[in-house]
Amino acid sequence: MCGIVGAIADRNIVPILIEGLRRLEYRGYDSAGVAVLNSSGHLRRLRTVGKVKMLQDAIVETPTDGQLGIAHTRWATHGVPSERNAHPHISRDGIAIVHNGIIENHEELREELTSLGYTFTSETDTEVIAHRIHHHKQKLGDIFRAVRATVAELEGAYALAVVSEDSPDRIILARAGCPVVIGVGNNENFVASDVSALLPVTRKFIFLDEGDVAEIRRQDVRVLDAEGNTAHREVRESALSADAAEKGDYPHFMLKEIFEQPRAVAQTLEERVAGGKLLEAAFGPLATEIFRRTEAVQIVACGTSYHAGAVAKYYIEQIARLPCWVEIASEYRYRNPVVPKNTLFVTISQSGETADTLAALRMAKQSGYLSSLSICNVPESSLVRESELVLLTRAGPEIGVASTKAFTTQLTALGMLVVALAKHHGADAERERGLVQRLIEIPGLIEKTLHLEPTIKELAKRFADKHHALFLGRGQMHPIAMEGALKLKEISYIHAEAYAAGELKHGPLALVDADMPVITVAPNNDLLEKLKSNLQEVRARGGELYVFADPDSGMQSSDGVTIITMPKHVSHFQAAAVYSIPLQLLSYHCAILRGTDVDQPRNLAKSVTVE
Ligand code: F6R
Repeated sequence: MCGIVGAIADRNIVPILIEGLRRLEYRGYDSAGVAVLNSSGHLRRLRTVGKVKMLQDAIVETPTDGQLGIAHTRWATHGVPSERNAHPHISRDGIAIVHNGIIENHEELREELTSLGYTFTSETDTEVIAHRIHHHKQKLGDIFRAVRATVAELEGAYALAVVSEDSPDRIILARAGCPVVIGVGNNENFVASDVSALLPVTRKFIFLDEGDVAEIRRQDVRVLDAEGNTAHREVRESALSADAAEKGDYPHFMLKEIFEQPRAVAQTLEERVAGGKLLEAAFGPLATEIFRRTEAVQIVACGTSYHAGAVAKYYIEQIARLPCWVEIASEYRYRNPVVPKNTLFVTISQSGETADTLAALRMAKQSGYLSSLSICNVPESSLVRESELVLLTRAGPEIGVASTKAFTTQLTALGMLVVALAKHHGADAERERGLVQRLIEIPGLIEKTLHLEPTIKELAKRFADKHHALFLGRGQMHPIAMEGALKLKEISYIHAEAYAAGELKHGPLALVDADMPVITVAPNNDLLEKLKSNLQEVRARGGELYVFADPDSGMQSSDGVTIITMPKHVSHFQAAAVYSIPLQLLSYHCAILRGTDVDQPRNLAKSVTVE
C-alpha cells in the first residue's frame, strides 16, 4: 500500500525522506516521488516508476535538497503505474500533496474543478484533492484552513500530507481511515505512514485520531479534531529499534522472518504464561469478566490472518467447547449477521490497518456483540485502539509481504485465547497446565523444524518448473494447507489450491496426474488413517506425493511418494504452528529458483488499507 514520509528541519531532509521511503518499501508500491522546497523557496518535484533506488538515482542526476519536503511510494488504484500518476501531485501556486487511500467522490469533484478551469495531468483521485486545496486557499487565504475545508468534502479514506510554497514553515496533515504518525524530533518534526520509516531520526511519536487535521512546524505540532477543537494527542515512545527493519545477514526479509519465529513465538508468550497458568489480564483489565460471559466466538480476518482464525475454530470448539465461526472480513462486513447472545468478536491482523477487518470491527461494535478482541502485531494500529480487549503478537516488524512470523505468533496468541476460554468453560488447573506447557514447547519445536531447511531447499528443485500444486490437510491442518497454498502462489506465482483431503474425490481428483505435485501435512492425529486413504487415491492416479509426516505415522518414501520426517512429539495443540514452517520454506526456495521478487511480490501490498 502507498507510503508517506515528510520532514521539516534545519538540515537537508532529502536523505531522511529517501531512507523513510526505503523503509516503507515492504508495503508494496509501483512508483515513488518527492517534492522539496529548495533554498530559493521553490517546489522541486521528482517522480520515477519502479523502485525507490530509481528515485535516488534521479536525485543524484538532478541534485535536489531542502529543509521541508514530502515523499511517497504509490500503489496504483486510480490510473496505471506511471510517472504522471505518481505522487506528489501539485496544483497552482506551488501546492504539493501526497495521499494514501481512495477518494470515492473524486469524479464529481473533478467535474466541478474542470468547470472552474483546472486542468488535470493525471488519472488519480489525489490530483483532485490538490486542486480542491488550491481552490479553497484562494478564498480562505491559509493552507491549513484550505485543507480543513477540502477534507470536509471528501468521501472515502485518506491520509494526506500537504506543503505549499507560501508556507515554507509547515506541513499540513489529515487522517480519515488511513494511518499517519508524526515523528517528534529536536527542533525538527517528521511525518510517515508508520513508525518504522522514522526510526533512524526519532523514537517519539504522536498518533493522529480519525478526523484529525494537524499542522507541524519545526518546534510545534498543532492538532484539531474532527469537530475543529484543539486536541491534545500524547507523545509516545516506540520500543522498536532502528535496525528491526534491516535484513542483517539474510538475503531476504522473508527468510530472516522465517528464522525469527522461535524467538517471536517465545516473546509472544513471555509474561503471559507463568507457573503453568495463563495470565488472562494480558488481554486487558476486563478480560476475566468477558471470557466468563462468552458463550460463542466470531472471528473475522483476511488472508493469512484468516487462516490463523480458521485453525483457532478447531481449538475453540474442541478444547473450550464453545461454538465458533470464522469469516473473511470483506464478506462479513456486507452481511447482516445474526449475533447470538454473548458472542465475543475477534479480529486478527498483522498490520491492524486492513480496511475490511477494521470496517468489520466498526460494524460489529454496532451489532450487539459481547465485546471485541484484537489479536494484532502493531500496538499503535487502529484495530488495537478501537478494540476493547487486545493481545499483541510480539513478532516485531514483518517486512516481507508474505506473512510468516506474524502467522505463527497469531496462532500462539489464539492458543492463549483458547486456554483463557477453556478455563472459564470447564478446564481445570491440570488441563490448563497441560495446555500452557504445549504452548511453551512450540518455539523449540519450530527451531527443530527449521533444521529441515537444506532438505526442503533440495525438494524445491522438483517444484520450481511446475505450473500447479495441490495442498492437502484434514481437520485443523486444512487451514495450514490453505496457508501453504497461499504462500506458494503469492511469492512463486505457481498456481496452488488447498483442499480438505476428504473432499478430493468430489472433484479435484480429476486434476491429479504426474505433473501435479500434491503436498500434504500429516501430523500424528486421529485423522491420520483417513488421510492415508486419501493419499492412496492420489497415488492410484499417478499423483506425485510430498508428505510432511510425523515420525510415528508409519509412512515411508516409495515410488512417487516422498516423506519428509518432522520432529517427534508434536501434539494436536502445536501441530498448526510447527507444520506451517516447512511450507513457508518450500515457497521461499521455489520463489528463489524462479527468480521472483520474494519480499515484494508483484501486485501485492503489505498493509491493505483500501477496501
Ligand atoms: C499473505 C498475507 C496477507 C495478509 C492479509 C491481511 O502472506 O500477508 O494475506 O494476511 O492481507 O493482513 P493483516 O494481517 O495485516 O490484516
